[in-house]
Amino acid sequence: MRDIEYIHNEAGIPSDQVTKTAETLLPYVEELRGVAKANNYEAPEASINLPLDKEFYEDVLGAAQELASSALRYVVVVGIGGSNLGTQAIYEALRKRTGEEVKMFFLDTVNSEELATVLEALKSCASSEEFLVNIISKSGTTTETIANTSTLFEHLEEKFGPGVYKRAVAITDEGSKLATLVVKKEIKTFTIPKNVGGRYSVLSAVGLFPLMVAGFDISQLLRGARSMRDKCISTDIEKNPALLSATLIYLHYTKGISIHNVFLFHPYLEFVGKWYRQLMGESIGKKGNTNGETVHAGITPVVSIGSTDLHSMAQLYFAGPRDKFTTFVSSPAKGKDVKVPEESQFNGLVSDLSGKSFGDIMGAIYSGVTKAYEKNKLPYVEIMLPKLDEQALGGLLQMKMLEMMYLAQLLHVNAFDQPNVEDYKKETKHLLKTSE
Ligand code: PA5
Repeated sequence: MRDIEYIHNEAGIPSDQVTKTAETLLPYVEELRGVAKANNYEAPEASINLPLDKEFYEDVLGAAQELASSALRYVVVVGIGGSNLGTQAIYEALRKRTGEEVKMFFLDTVNSEELATVLEALKSCASSEEFLVNIISKSGTTTETIANTSTLFEHLEEKFGPGVYKRAVAITDEGSKLATLVVKKEIKTFTIPKNVGGRYSVLSAVGLFPLMVAGFDISQLLRGARSMRDKCISTDIEKNPALLSATLIYLHYTKGISIHNVFLFHPYLEFVGKWYRQLMGESIGKKGNTNGETVHAGITPVVSIGSTDLHSMAQLYFAGPRDKFTTFVSSPAKGKDVKVPEESQFNGLVSDLSGKSFGDIMGAIYSGVTKAYEKNKLPYVEIMLPKLDEQALGGLLQMKMLEMMYLAQLLHVNAFDQPNVEDYKKETKHLLKTSE
């Protein structure tokens, strides 16, 4: 199997400058290597050890085998932000779309219609064996997640009786209020290592359990992540894509380029973009830096889909403010490559289409876009996935998580906290209290 390729050509920055900046990260590479060597969950960067945790993998596998019979039709993930985005990214990228596989629902925000759709599906089941509800909340006290869980189970209990809690699995921090409650209900629980934050948790039970019960090949996901982790803690700068990517994003940021456009050339990858928005938004968007100075640091992630968004955003990208750094991510189509017929009355409308495969057409559009970027001197890098599968996605997500840790180092911000998210959560709770 070919590896993920990262192609950069320095994206318009002199190579000695790239090397000089990249070299400043080498002490941090050593730190990360130390974290990997310790192989525990003590450091803030602990998530890099998740793909190697065999004990935990066996636990998840055991529970998945116990709970997922051939009758299983639906998996409902109740969680938001770091508790659902990674899982949804992999599900949307890899689900077969045949209608025969286990269907996943994601209840994140509070929306009565969404909840009704899920309830309708679950209540249509002849037995609770046909579904599984995965309640995921690191803190265990997120307003939306608790509102959805409580309402969902009120209705499910009505139809399936108190035994329905056997069809729930909770994933939360050890000792959270949710953890205490689910023990009383005898709900199977997995914990999230304390130092693994929501946006870095996709390779913990948070992503692995629901994806495994839904039939995805988690061992390949972890395999891809492991191999990428090893590359991304390499001291050989040229062979370390996460370090190079962070360096290039940072150097452009220092020149006033404060938007990172993740341009995904496959419609199924849109949720990978949404996952990345949280990763970048929460890790880098910080008022204060690690020296205690007020800096209001931040790079705004935007997600574009090729070729769809070329027909809505390209004008802005090519002609508008020169404030964007682009990472193109491309992947071959998953299934059979369809061909335009040799002869069709429609073909005359566009020259040279006859007999071309959709892959060829997309390839031409992609190359056309990168050439136009070069011509317009717009900075970009490329990530090429060899295939759209678990292994490639495991590698991609792991690379991006390490990229963010390096980027935070360069910007002198804490990659792992989100103090201002906590601010609005507190305000919401206060308002709910006062509106009683
Ligand atoms: O990164 C964060 O802290 C947030 O975006 C969380 O992922 C999100 O709020 C969900 O939190 P929890 O998993 O505690 O329910």
